Amino acid sequence: MTSEVEARAADSGAGATDTFRQSGKLQGEADIPPERVNLLAGELIKAANDVAEKHEVTYEEFNILKAWLIQVGEDGEWPLFLDVFLEHTVEDVNTRHREGTKGSIEGPYYVPDAPTISSPATLPMRPDEKGTPLTLKGSVTSTGGEALTDAKVEIWLADDEGFYSRFAPGLPEWNLRATVPVDSEGNYEIHGIKPAPYQIPTDGATGKLIAAADWHAWRPAHLHIKVSAPGHELLTQQLYFPGDQHNDDDIAAAVKPELLLDPQPNGEGGETAVYDYVLDAQA
Ligand code: DHB
Ligand code: FE
Repeated sequence: MTSEVEARAADSGAGATDTFRQSGKLQGEADIPPERVNLLAGELIKAANDVAEKHEVTYEEFNILKAWLIQVGEDGEWPLFLDVFLEHTVEDVNTRHREGTKGSIEGPYYVPDAPTISSPATLPMRPDEKGTPLTLKGSVTSTGGEALTDAKVEIWLADDEGFYSRFAPGLPEWNLRATVPVDSEGNYEIHGIKPAPYQIPTDGATGKLIAAADWHAWRPAHLHIKVSAPGHELLTQQLYFPGDQHNDDDIAAAVKPELLLDPQPNGEGGETAVYDYVLDAQA
């Protein structure tokens, strides 16, 4: 029998495909020059052929690959699969010029235009929201050290079971999501919860591959954040917690040492972590 948790995970994967289609990220598709398509598609196909040659892939394996690729699409899991296994490299090559704060992958569960809540902000939560209360606060400055008083901090968190609102059914629409403009000094303060470690959906095609290869499906507990300010590069980031057993073997390979928080008990039953952002000016 399919458990409620599995059903919610399956919905999450499929929802990510609809969200991607509606996101506007496909603008520019027609502008990629043929030389570039030739280079990228050509080398990717060659890499696959090299693997088939080196490991003498059988027809049985070739057909299982076909069936699996079909199933990833039918399950709506291409955004999920690519964000787990490839986005970390794309993120790295596109942000390595930066002097400011390090970024990380967006993943499949960002939704723009979350409700604006002024700082200090409490995230929309259910009355009985589970998880240790967590306050995140800090400043947003330029690489030159000036406060960016028109910056915005967007945050989206999985709940204590690892589910994201707008993707898993049964959650209030904007649960644990908000857009928080910094205050007049360029500081922000956000009250939420510490999310749980997150297992990517195990019931779809991506999960089947993970099980068939004897990998695990875990990501360490993380906060998702975007920090933006006019004239500055958008920072897309995740923050992690020291001691999480999956910091060193995140299936999405998205942890960096600069992204580890140092939360401290705040005497109110929760924890507080300070994280200061530095944004690069747009070129
Ligand atoms: C996936 C989920 C996440 O929460 C995340 O941060 C990155 C990737 C995923 O399921 O693909
Ligand atoms: Fe996530």
